[in-house]
Amino acid sequence: MIKRYSFSPIYDTGAVVKELPISKGTPLPFALSERSFTLQMDENARIYGLGETVRGINKRGWVYESFCSDDPFHTEDKRSLYGAHNFILVDGKERFGAFFDTPSKITFDLGYTDSDMIKITPECFALELYIITADSLKAIVSEFRSLIGKSYIPPKWAFGYGQSRWGYVKEDDIRCCADKYQDAGIPIDMIYLDIDYMDSFKDFSISPERFPDLKKLCYDLKERGIRLIPIIDAAVKKEEGYAVYDEGHAKGYFCKDENGEDFVVGVWPGMSVLPDFLNPEAAKWFGQKYKALTDIGIEGFWNDMNEPALFYSEKGLNNAYEELKHIDDKQLDALSFFGARDTLVRLQNSDDDYKSFYHNTPQGRFRHYDVHNLYGYHMTKSAYDALCGLREEPPLLFSRASYIGAHRCGGIWTGDNHSWWSHILQSLQQMPGLNMCGFLYTGSDIGGFNSSCTRDLLIRWLSFALFTPLMRNHAAAGTRSQEAYAFGDTEVFRHIITLRYRLIPYLYDSFIKAAENDEMYFRPLCFDYEDDEVAKGIEDQLMVGDRLMIAPIYRQNAVSRNVYLPEDMTQVRMHEGEISTEELKKGWHDVSVPLGDVVFFTAKPLFLAKPAENTTALDWDDLESVG
Ligand code: NOJ
Repeated sequence: MIKRYSFSPIYDTGAVVKELPISKGTPLPFALSERSFTLQMDENARIYGLGETVRGINKRGWVYESFCSDDPFHTEDKRSLYGAHNFILVDGKERFGAFFDTPSKITFDLGYTDSDMIKITPECFALELYIITADSLKAIVSEFRSLIGKSYIPPKWAFGYGQSRWGYVKEDDIRCCADKYQDAGIPIDMIYLDIDYMDSFKDFSISPERFPDLKKLCYDLKERGIRLIPIIDAAVKKEEGYAVYDEGHAKGYFCKDENGEDFVVGVWPGMSVLPDFLNPEAAKWFGQKYKALTDIGIEGFWNDMNEPALFYSEKGLNNAYEELKHIDDKQLDALSFFGARDTLVRLQNSDDDYKSFYHNTPQGRFRHYDVHNLYGYHMTKSAYDALCGLREEPPLLFSRASYIGAHRCGGIWTGDNHSWWSHILQSLQQMPGLNMCGFLYTGSDIGGFNSSCTRDLLIRWLSFALFTPLMRNHAAAGTRSQEAYAFGDTEVFRHIITLRYRLIPYLYDSFIKAAENDEMYFRPLCFDYEDDEVAKGIEDQLMVGDRLMIAPIYRQNAVSRNVYLPEDMTQVRMHEGEISTEELKKGWHDVSVPLGDVVFFTAKPLFLAKPAENTTALDWDDLESVG
């Protein structure tokens, strides 16, 4: 059952697809104290949800803030990442889901200030609140998902493996990557193009020197079963003579400052402007621009920097220069040195800037800061709406920033993580929360984006990520190469990625079921085994689809781990490409997982495809039963 409570919302976010009457006479599970929603928790209450956030599957014990943030350090002390996913599921004496539908900042203090108290504080007390009850955790999620609409389903080939790197700067780098994968017999379906393919980082442009014939490159790779997936950034370079800028400027499609002038910010292309995705005409116009790339055979995109990320604004930079003038002819002491440094650092993604530009929406003119969390969502929607019209097949599309609602238009990747062991676990722990909020096509940068990856980290990360719908290896410019061929021997990588392809029929089928039935593809164990007290505390294993359980290794040099089986299960082991099974009883097991072996568990028989070099070559009907 879903109850709607309305607190004078100022903006319809578009997250909800069902029209519900406002609930009268039914008390809220929360008390209203000043401008916060509070709830006293019992000792054992657990809280799930909040999508893309740091820390555990059970979110209790930290304070989270929904404010889409371009922050490349996903450490435990962070309160926000790139998404704003305001759904929590409280599982205590009282059990319910709650969706706080507001486009602006909201804080979820889940036992941080007072360990027994939930305190939820919207910065602007104007929102719709939905309270969802049902007789199981899974049923609460399904009920919530029916409220927000069906999840995006990508094309089948998007379940293949993809390689990306910021730093493939020319056509040859891409061809060489394809050759190395295929020469090593490692299956691959996608190679991603980062901003390097553009001409001076201008959206919808192609560098004539470095990618002289992108159409041919796209065609040649497709012949080999590989699709090229380019990035599109939110900001548009401010440059007269660049058609996208000229047109958008002439039509008034960029966000405006308080004087009605285009608000100018610094991002990768230098001085840039921000398409007003909350203006449907502007969004439609921007979406049509993808045609420049679909016309040459491109079938998928990733949308980036759409929190929106701002390195600085023209206005902020001018103020900073003023401030820095006083240090011109002085000897710097430590304090003035750090002060000067901070003057520049503070410019990045500053609230002052977010408060200085406006959107022209059908619901009126809105200050960006007050609707900040919707920007990435509307960029994804603009692309999705256009791409569905431009092509027969749905596109592969995923985004960095998001709000609930964006799950209907695309997936998300979890942004700029690090080549840290803890980030394998973090990625696993993010998956159920994302699924609750409708984001099913998700995955993290395999191997880690920032800092340098090691062979063992990549092996272990792949062994987990072969279960995530989006399976993409991506790294930052300047980091060590981390392609599956980059560490000398390729055998072990071939075996693991081949196993992904063997599992695709099961994974795809599970994904479609989850999308069609408003279910979760990844679930914490206690969602399936609600009466199992041990399962409630398991933070590093997940159910995948209706019959598989994973328990990956996420510690360096570990060769075994404890695995909890909530019922008798078959242990499936892939060792050097060979599959073997062993029956195990419910309970704890010390499971040996030498580097290169992949171990998972299944409660019912599972069907594996024959190895294939890509999804086109995969035989979806010739399946072998395991378990
Ligand atoms: C930030 C994105 O998160 C990252 O994946 C990308 O490589 C860089 N921008 C450069 O485009």
